[in-house]
Amino acid sequence: MTNFSRIIGTGSYLPERILTNEELAGRVDTSHDWIVERTGIYERRIAAPDQTTCDMAEIAAQRAMETAGVGADDIDLIVLATCTPDRVFPSTACLLQERLGIQGGGAFDVTAACAGFIYAFATADNFIRAGAAKRALVVGAETMSRVIDWNDRGTCILFADGAGAVVLEQSDEPGVYSTHLHADGRYKDLLAVPGWVSPDYNDQPAPSPFMTMQGNEVFRVAVGSLGDVVLEALKANGLERSDVDWLIPHQANIRIIQAIARRLRLSMEQVVTTIETQGNTSAASVPLALDTAVRDGRVKPGELLLLEAFGGGFAWGSALVRF
Ligand SMILES: CC(C)(COP(=O)(O)OP(=O)(O)OC[C@H]1O[C@@H](n2cnc3c(N)ncnc32)[C@H](O)[C@@H]1OP(=O)(O)O)[C@@H](O)C(=O)NCCC(=O)NCCS
Repeated sequence: MTNFSRIIGTGSYLPERILTNEELAGRVDTSHDWIVERTGIYERRIAAPDQTTCDMAEIAAQRAMETAGVGADDIDLIVLATCTPDRVFPSTACLLQERLGIQGGGAFDVTAACAGFIYAFATADNFIRAGAAKRALVVGAETMSRVIDWNDRGTCILFADGAGAVVLEQSDEPGVYSTHLHADGRYKDLLAVPGWVSPDYNDQPAPSPFMTMQGNEVFRVAVGSLGDVVLEALKANGLERSDVDWLIPHQANIRIIQAIARRLRLSMEQVVTTIETQGNTSAASVPLALDTAVRDGRVKPGELLLLEAFGGGFAWGSALVRF
């Protein structure tokens, strides 16, 4: 018998504080119109000063477990994607495990920046396929506001905070058809938070604790890589572009999302976008978009979803899912 995994619940959380483009224009040399035209972002959410990645992950996970109808005893694996963990270690997954009263199974973080959720999702899917787990909690959660230089107009307009989660369960039928992961470390300097744990830098100036990014180069590689990896997912399963009901993309820039929709020949009505009000929440953006579209009734059981994300590394990937 072949094991597959399928999504049995989704959940998400956004912090209360709304940061508008107008407020950003008061801090750096930019404007509401420039941000909307170049990124599609109108506003974003920022965590409260005392709110951590684990705090947000906890609420998103509770909501996903509630919709899945499962309790703490039912989860035997936690895979949490973040590049803004509460601590260097223990992992945020272990902190979350304790908060949720889950015991016994494995819990670990995955770091692939904005591609983190797809990496975590692929990891959990493969655990379940291998028979090594039955029910996995997969979370993407970020406090990007803590690694942003709020004086850098090239990055501070883009990133934001939030969390999303899904519960994956062993199933006789897909569920998840396939996942596709890629990385290219040669691009390590184009998008990075270089600082913090830096034993090799003793005789050099401390590296920046804030994000550095060459936006236009990131844009160019993201469009090419994501276009390829969504078509790779369809080809691997002998499916056509017309079979896809919904594209659930990473929310980095509306122009990147539109370019991928064009490669898939999808109308924007078949694309879930949350970037307008949520900005780029890194590893949280795909499960946030999925949960948004499930809860407002757009994504329905039985539909075919194509998930994709791209981030620092570079790392990128896709997942083809029957919901
Ligand atoms: C960052 C990004 C919005 C910049 O848009 P862009 O159209 O590529 O703009 P460029 O970087 O080419 O800069 C064009 C001009 O706008 C300026 N500019 C940059 N940020 C600006 C801002 N917030 N407001 C106003 N002007 C800005 C630049 O300084 C540049 O000015 P110049 O022509 O006088 O030198 C865009 O490159 C992007 O979204 N890249 C992808 C980033 C991303 O997705 N990262 C995460 C991946 S997970």
